[in-house]
Amino acid sequence: MLETVSVRHLGQHIGNEVAVNGWLHAKRSSGKIVFLQIRDGTGFVQAVMVRSEVSAETFAEASALTQESSLRITGIVKADDRAHSGVEMQATTLMVVQATHDYPITPKEHGVDFLMDHRHLWIRAPRQRSILKIRAEIIRAVRAFLDAREFTQVDPPILTPSACEGTTNLFHTQYFEEDAYLTQSGQLYMEAAAMAFGRVYSFGPTFRAEKSKTRRHLIEFWMIEPEMAFTTHEESVQIQEELIAHVIAHVLRHCEQELRTVGRDTEKLARIATPFPRISYDEAVAILQRNGHEITWGDDFGAPHETEIAALYEQPVFVERYPTALKAFYMKPDPDRPEVVLCADLLAPEGYGEIIGGSQRIDDADLLFARFEEHQLPADAYSWYLDLRKYGSVPHSGFGLGLERTVAWICGLEHVRETIPFPRLLYRLYP
Ligand code: 4AD
Ligand code: MG
Repeated sequence: MLETVSVRHLGQHIGNEVAVNGWLHAKRSSGKIVFLQIRDGTGFVQAVMVRSEVSAETFAEASALTQESSLRITGIVKADDRAHSGVEMQATTLMVVQATHDYPITPKEHGVDFLMDHRHLWIRAPRQRSILKIRAEIIRAVRAFLDAREFTQVDPPILTPSACEGTTNLFHTQYFEEDAYLTQSGQLYMEAAAMAFGRVYSFGPTFRAEKSKTRRHLIEFWMIEPEMAFTTHEESVQIQEELIAHVIAHVLRHCEQELRTVGRDTEKLARIATPFPRISYDEAVAILQRNGHEITWGDDFGAPHETEIAALYEQPVFVERYPTALKAFYMKPDPDRPEVVLCADLLAPEGYGEIIGGSQRIDDADLLFARFEEHQLPADAYSWYLDLRKYGSVPHSGFGLGLERTVAWICGLEHVRETIPFPRLLYRLYP
């Protein structure tokens, strides 16, 4: 039996006869020759079958092959400069594993709802495959970056008894006799872990019952949440920009083909370099006011505000020190100006909005307790979290990187729904 080779590695087998297992992506035929576009998950290759070189039966089978039929094909690997993969196959035999009938996603245009209903098949399309491949490479780059800096991965729970990011979008569920919520963020648990390991990160799904239908919001999204003991806001911000620069460099280096398939203008990404610009919330409000927005100090930013601020820069921009009243209960007030907190949101360029939210955390037990009261949080549910301020409390900081928005930005996508294999959106739980 011939060696089975993945398409990605065909270039190492030029001149040899090998087998490829895959699916028929597309087909063209001239009567004497059939051109089979085959995908195997690692790439696409064209197999050329010439009528005079194979059995009549094989040629007939290839001529009748339908889109997404599964197959095993053998052939001689030839160098071909015109092909993206650099090779093509001169087909010798074909074995149809399953002949497919009426594959729903045809090369014609389909509407978004139709494609979303067929997401389980849509992910086979070159563009979707490329986006999800880039997503996987971004994850790989983030892990490599953090692992190299002695962060330990610690896994927080998914089912939680209390809120981390406010109670408005909590996803309620039942935990036997108790109320429970799907996690909004692993942060509080990461703070506990940072006191055990120094530097930690979590990477997992987080849930927010967002009632708004926007191109940036998912109900279920994945977050990378580093947390660092003995670390100030300032130090955390530097790690954030280094992380983003590392991820961009990794994707540019390892996903050239995928970026081309999604049509990304990579020049914009190639210009990303640290240090990223920083402005204060105060300055951001002043800019927005000058540009005619009806916004006053103390208001939160909406998508149009973020887009306008981000448009002033080619780089991602940190907006620092938001009003204390706007932000989560755990953020540490600026000692010189307690009406603002030591936090930063990182806004991606090109209108992709906030990709990171981070802050220094309150390390004082009394202040944290006062915040529970102000935010009307049940102190008993958070007593374990208060313990962290009683037993060896230290200055500590952390942040959450939203994976899907990062993928949307790096791929240059209109909507986050394409950045995750099976998006959970408002009114969409299928497939
Ligand atoms: O700013 P957020 O709410 O911060 C936290 O959850 C902190 N506890 C993180 C931490 O400090 N450990 O969310 C962090 C990031 C946002 O910047 C955004 O990129 C993403 O998560 N995000 C969403 N992405 C998609 N859909 C949603 N509904 C999102 N909500 C937040
Ligand atoms: Mg935020």
